[in-house]
Amino acid sequence: MAYQYNTLRAVTWQDNQLYLLDQRKLPQQQTVIILETVADVAQAITDMVVRGAPAIGITAAYGVVLAAKAAYKAAPNNWQTLIETDLQLLAQARPTAVNLIWALERMRACFAKAAKNPIEMLLEEAKRIQQEDIDANRRMGDLGAALLPSNCRVLTHCNAGALATGGYGTALGVIRSAYAAGKISQVYADETRPWLQGARLTAWELLQDNIPVTLLADSAAAALMQQKRVDWIIVGSDRITANGDVANKIGTYSLAVLARQHGIKFMVAAPTSTVDMNLTDGSQIVIEERAIDEVLTIGGQSIAPSGAKAWNPSFDVTPATLVDVIVTEKGVVEQPTTERLAALMK
Ligand code: MRU
Repeated sequence: MAYQYNTLRAVTWQDNQLYLLDQRKLPQQQTVIILETVADVAQAITDMVVRGAPAIGITAAYGVVLAAKAAYKAAPNNWQTLIETDLQLLAQARPTAVNLIWALERMRACFAKAAKNPIEMLLEEAKRIQQEDIDANRRMGDLGAALLPSNCRVLTHCNAGALATGGYGTALGVIRSAYAAGKISQVYADETRPWLQGARLTAWELLQDNIPVTLLADSAAAALMQQKRVDWIIVGSDRITANGDVANKIGTYSLAVLARQHGIKFMVAAPTSTVDMNLTDGSQIVIEERAIDEVLTIGGQSIAPSGAKAWNPSFDVTPATLVDVIVTEKGVVEQPTTERLAALMK
């Protein structure tokens, strides 16, 4: 099957260099930056030049290539030891998305095979991680779209699109596939305070593909559901625990509660690299808290009186009981439970 909408890339390796589309500047400016060192890569992840769980993992994988280049140059016989602090640096760049650790572990698994001259082999692995993510998203797009009725009106939160992945997107991958199949009549996107991923990134990304989108303030979602103007909520995830609890952008949990109250279906689209079978439930997930300035300002302008405090958790956890379906590249899990996820992951 030919897939439409497959051009936008947040992360690119070209001519031996790592390029990131600077997502802090979208949609006003489309700026691409080149990262030269592993420290640059870790900082770019922390600062959200690149964001979204799979995109963070892919970027970190390319970061390992940069780290290996430097380490191999400095100590060809001892590069694997030298690189350990770099791996730690990358692992600590953001805590919630398990894809980061997952990608680093995949890169580490190549070290033994790559003993002689590691660069080419590690680069191949990083590229493979990115391509597999795109392929997984296409598969999820098909599986998720098949679950939607015709004339479906969907609401998404944050940005779980090409910008947040290797390409094509998870939640937006489902929306892209369903739109291409003529099944979607309306896409709503929450603006997603405080960082505005919905307003700045999702709306931009969908419009790049000529998919119409209607933005709403996060607090308008309840009224939208009450007025029966939406059929499915479709979101991505940063970490899914063994029992099916889902960490995703702050505000996802409130959508899930609202969806259940209004009889609206709730879909999580995520690759199996987002599933963390080492954690039994969502209470064990480390939730990143970011700088309070993200809440107290918008676009560098203060919106609160000086002296106001703020609380800025970047993610929340939606209990598995509120999730109707998890869509992965390996298949679909309805009403997720520990047993059903274990069967999927085995
Ligand atoms: O803080 P962000 O922008 O990295 O948060 C991203 C999200 O919450 C996404 O929904 C999630 O990573 C899934 S991306 C396919």
